[in-house]
Amino acid sequence: MMKIIFVCLGNICRSPMAFAIAKDIVKKHNLDINVDSAGTSGYHDGEDMHKKTKEMLKKHNIDSSGFVSKKLTDFMCKTNDMIIVMDKSNKNNIIKTFGYQEKIHMMTDFAKELGYDEVPDPWYSGDFDETYTILSTAVKNLLLEK
Ligand code: 4NP
Repeated sequence: MMKIIFVCLGNICRSPMAFAIAKDIVKKHNLDINVDSAGTSGYHDGEDMHKKTKEMLKKHNIDSSGFVSKKLTDFMCKTNDMIIVMDKSNKNNIIKTFGYQEKIHMMTDFAKELGYDEVPDPWYSGDFDETYTILSTAVKNLLLEK
């Protein structure tokens, strides 16, 4: 089974949204893929997703129940086949802390048609619609066209 982990900074906005979108696709298409998510910071360990992340998922009929934010560990890096990061800072943090450069991929590389080189952080931008547009496009490309 292919294992993919989505990683952002806080693990309450971008990577949980990617995780929920991916879980929905895996279920609907009966794919043999395990998905997970984590944050490099641990700032929100034990918390649910951001309220606006949940609202955005609900708007698109995607389940967000049962989520618990957690910090990325070496074990998670070791046991996943792909580590998909939201921005360059996530990537550099992981390489510096754990290594695994060869497994790390930028989420935006799976949605080149949108012209982003990072997934902007809605914690700062407030634009959760933009986050959803990028992540739903990239995750579909990643899971269904690879
Ligand atoms: P995320 O957004 O990395 O997409 O989950 C953030 C959430 C929280 C913080 C930063 C980014 N924070 O500094 O608490």
